[in-house]
Amino acid sequence: MAFLFYCFIILCCVDHRATLGDDQGVPLIAQYFNTKGRYEEVNPHLRRDALAVNRSVLQPPSPQCREIHLTAIVRHGTRYPTARNVKDMQQLHSVVLNNSTGESSRLREILSQWTMWYTEDMDGRLAQKGVEDLKHLAVRLSKLFPSLVSGEKLRGGLIRFTSSSKHRCVNSTLSFKEGLTEMWAIRDVEFGHEVNDALMRFFDQCTRFVQEVDGNRSAVIEVQKFKQGPEIMRVREKIAERLGVPSSFITHDLAEAAFLLCSYEFAVKAVNSPWCQLFDEEDAKVMEYASDLREFWKRGYGHAINSRSSCILFHDLFRRLEKAAGENKSRRQVSEAVTVQIGHADTLLPLLTLLGFFKDTAPLTSTNFASQTQRSFRTSHTMPYAANFLLVLYDCGEGGIRLQPLLNEKPLTFPGLTDQQASIPLYEEVRKHYRDLLNGCDPETECHGVKTPAEV
Ligand SMILES: *[C@@H]1O[C@H](CO)[C@@H](O)[C@H](O)[C@H]1NC(C)=O
Ligand SMILES: *[C@@H]1O[C@H](CO)[C@@H](O)[C@H](O)[C@H]1NC(C)=O
Ligand SMILES: *[C@@H]1O[C@H](CO)[C@@H](O)[C@H](O)[C@H]1NC(C)=O
Ligand SMILES: *[C@@H]1O[C@H](CO)[C@@H](O)[C@H](O)[C@H]1NC(C)=O
Ligand SMILES: *[C@@H]1O[C@H](CO)[C@@H](O)[C@H](O)[C@H]1NC(C)=O
Ligand SMILES: *[C@@H]1O[C@H](CO)[C@@H](O)[C@H](O)[C@H]1NC(C)=O
Repeated sequence: MAFLFYCFIILCCVDHRATLGDDQGVPLIAQYFNTKGRYEEVNPHLRRDALAVNRSVLQPPSPQCREIHLTAIVRHGTRYPTARNVKDMQQLHSVVLNNSTGESSRLREILSQWTMWYTEDMDGRLAQKGVEDLKHLAVRLSKLFPSLVSGEKLRGGLIRFTSSSKHRCVNSTLSFKEGLTEMWAIRDVEFGHEVNDALMRFFDQCTRFVQEVDGNRSAVIEVQKFKQGPEIMRVREKIAERLGVPSSFITHDLAEAAFLLCSYEFAVKAVNSPWCQLFDEEDAKVMEYASDLREFWKRGYGHAINSRSSCILFHDLFRRLEKAAGENKSRRQVSEAVTVQIGHADTLLPLLTLLGFFKDTAPLTSTNFASQTQRSFRTSHTMPYAANFLLVLYDCGEGGIRLQPLLNEKPLTFPGLTDQQASIPLYEEVRKHYRDLLNGCDPETECHGVKTPAEV
């Protein structure tokens, strides 16, 4: 009896720990949500003040440096689940409602009182939180780069916007613009944007990528293996135990649906939902890895074509940097001060991979979960909603023209570039470093197998 009581205490405490996040109602597992995580988990100071910026992260090598151009490649804000995810969530909910055996658990009672409010027609649309994500980002960028993201530049047509055609991206673009126009009380003008899927959804249009990876199950075989491996099996058993349902009922898709329910309730509604109690931190790390594994093989280093599919965006970026640098050198006004391009995690990950960021020494595979705990390829840290890759071009007078990369408003260093001078290398050095890509990486050749004359 005493032993049983002791067990009860232990279980109770363990459960309690898994249940409660910190005092702000953040689930303990919120830092493992991959691309379904909030931007605030990556920049926790925004939980207190959504408009706070830290300008000291921008440390140009000398005080005479002036920003002359900013490109911001931005992921859309917080969105609702896709129709497919909603179906899995509905199925999980009905398993909880009418498939339990044995004694009822307290958690199952709580979950059976939970109201399923997601519908298939939400289909990945931008949520109200997503509108705010982009409005706030716009305001913060104007505080970080006041000479570039300014009312004067916007009115002067020196700030341009490009969006993916997906409704969540177009609405994110509108929200970003609203963030600016509301801040500056501009009511008399509307600012347009270009919809360009060749740039922002290159992954759909790159034939070789679609054939070899996106529509090819063998290309993600490591993901399939991991889903059947011991780590995921254990997570599924633990969920089944916590729910009091036979473990055969919790397929990988339903385990994922539970994880998604926890993440969506938090991201969309700021609620620490009871679904989160189906996972402890160890379980969350396994779920996180399964998702990173998929991104690695579909968007990251897993296959060369994943990143090569972004050649078109790479060249678009460098053409603009080149133009801005050239204009400033020849003492003309920089004609495009700010470029804001709004797309997807699938837009950003291949480009960051092409540039060599977040590359680990060993690839992510189905068997090395344990040795990858310190990996840098971790979408929970890099790709939350409203993730953004910023490239800031500076004119430093005698100090030359320099280029600073930031991810999610935090400085990055170009991988493999030495002598970084406080992480802001000479633009010329960056160009040299990427010369093979600048001279090659031809979208036609890479994606459609058409040989350019130079290669023949
Ligand atoms: C701002 O960033 C600097 C450099 O990363 C850091 O040392 C400092 O603590 C930050 N300040 C705040 C208020 O977050
Ligand atoms: C299970 O629950 C769902 C949702 O309440 C219901 O639609 C379905 O008919 C139930 N299935 C069975 C077999 O009881
Ligand atoms: C459990 O769910 C399945 C569908 O997944 C349904 O066919 C079956 O009748 C359910 N069993 C019980 C006991 O509710
Ligand atoms: C997105 O934009 C469309 C068209 O302007 C609008 O009807 C819809 O309400 C917007 N959704 C959100 C969440 O802002
Ligand atoms: C599918 O992927 C496998 C593994 O990467 C590869 O060997 C095969 O050639 C791919 N199939 C097609 C049609 O590209
Ligand atoms: C080039 O940049 C420097 C530094 O901001 C600035 O002083 C100069 O006016 C710029 N040239 C032109 C033509 O904009």
